[in-house]
Amino acid sequence: MSANKESWGSRIGLILAMAGNAVGLGNFLRFPMQAIQNGGGAFIIPYLVCFLLMGIPLLWIEWSMGRFGGRFGHHSTPFIVQEMDTKRHFWKYIGTFGIFTNIAVASYYCYIESWTLSYVFHSLFGTFDGKTQSEVAQFFADYTDITVSTTGIPYEAVIFYLICVTMNTYILSRGLQGGVEVASKIGMPLLILFGIILAIRGVTLGTSGAPAGCTDCDSILGLNYLWNPQFDSLANPKVWLAAAGQIFFTLSVGMGTIHCYASYVRSKDDVALNAMSAGWMNGFVEIVLGASIVIPIAAGYLGLEWVKEKAGFAMAFQTMPYLFEQWGSFFSAAAGVMWFGLLFFAGITSSLAMGTPWMGFMQDEFQWGREKAAWSFGLFTTVLGLPTVFFYNEGVFGEYDYWAGTVSLVVFALAEVILFSWIFGLDKGWKEINMGADIKVPEFYRFVIKYITPMLLLVVFITSFCSPVGGDWGGAISGLFSGNGWNLDNGSIIAQIMNKGLKEQIAQATDAAAIAKLENNMFFINIGRLLLLSAFTFIALIIYIAYDRRKKTGKVL
Ligand code: ALA
Repeated sequence: MSANKESWGSRIGLILAMAGNAVGLGNFLRFPMQAIQNGGGAFIIPYLVCFLLMGIPLLWIEWSMGRFGGRFGHHSTPFIVQEMDTKRHFWKYIGTFGIFTNIAVASYYCYIESWTLSYVFHSLFGTFDGKTQSEVAQFFADYTDITVSTTGIPYEAVIFYLICVTMNTYILSRGLQGGVEVASKIGMPLLILFGIILAIRGVTLGTSGAPAGCTDCDSILGLNYLWNPQFDSLANPKVWLAAAGQIFFTLSVGMGTIHCYASYVRSKDDVALNAMSAGWMNGFVEIVLGASIVIPIAAGYLGLEWVKEKAGFAMAFQTMPYLFEQWGSFFSAAAGVMWFGLLFFAGITSSLAMGTPWMGFMQDEFQWGREKAAWSFGLFTTVLGLPTVFFYNEGVFGEYDYWAGTVSLVVFALAEVILFSWIFGLDKGWKEINMGADIKVPEFYRFVIKYITPMLLLVVFITSFCSPVGGDWGGAISGLFSGNGWNLDNGSIIAQIMNKGLKEQIAQATDAAAIAKLENNMFFINIGRLLLLSAFTFIALIIYIAYDRRKKTGKVL
């Protein structure tokens, strides 16, 4: 008997939890960074196309796969995907991704979440009062260097990380209704409220914060940069890849969390409209709120050129406390609490979702109780995540984000769309999507789900696998025919496996200290990879054991 007796309390609770799963740090930190790094308005069109042709179909696919699996008592991907093709036994191992990705992403995601918690604390207690912009940036650098103590608290980053994982674990141990739903019902409205207040500030700031002599300090310039579409970007594969990656990350598709949440939906309940509601709510928060805060406010005070040069995940931590300082001591504390509080709520409603596939699996297959399942998730996440805290500056964090937060999502999404459309069969799949639906899903999406989404995913995967230097495919193919070989881009999967970029940096470095530092980074990056691989193998082994138990009890699929 499964120990899993979870269910959703209400439809609004489910939608808020699903939207909370999607709305995360990706909306407020990753989206602005990706948009800026990929040319602002050049990014928006590929982003919207990827949303319509990959994001929405994958939402429908994952919601209906989850509800389908739930009918057979499965609450995580290994046996959900196996149930969809009982002839080929390898599917359950492909389903490993749907547990692995969540734990691996949660392990570093909780680290960013813990920064937000710590920054709420520091905003409240006035740590940033009177600091210059470079001092605020230095604070962040010191914070992530755990050998330095910024506030006299030793190992502050580690402490906040552990607090964060513990909070996640505790909420998870309260279950879907008593934990996740409650957190989403509190977190989502607050997040939207804080977001709207800060976005209004971003949009109305204009040139009022411009220091003397700054010619491009205008929040409207920041907005224009994002929203002025540039059609020539359509021919640039690099921008398409970035847009697809952002859509995956922000919607949490290809992860396995949606399957898990949807597996607790009742068999005849709607998934089509629910999927849309959560997806569009995420889109609203990302492109309306996410785009109207960091970039416009930073552009208003520091200038658009500065923003373009400095855009990165950490920018919001390096700049926002200083920018808020300009609003006077009371408003700066309030804005700091709102902004970092917003990020915290966005983060925790996503990381909670990442705990549920592991919990669902252990409850279904090993009859673990909810608390044991939750605390084991906390332990697993901590063991895997602490290296990202201790060796953040050595590149371990980035390595996790690359393999778990980027590559794994595409690999699993590609596998599941093939399974759904071609093996399970689109006729059955379409019926699943439409069963109990409160909207009429456009017929046109039958074609999209069968051909366009898998094809786009295949293109994304192949191009990321072996993309040539600078994404110049034409040049690379003619180079290959003229005997010059294939010059891989350092961002491609193969080059990444071979540490090509790092090796080049080592070869170019001239002083011994720089070489030693790069070699040290390579060592830790390789260890990080090994840890990820061990986690994947460990989960696959647990799936094997579960399968073996099923065989012995005659419950084999
Ligand atoms: N979807 C989550 C985010 O955007 C992971 O942060």
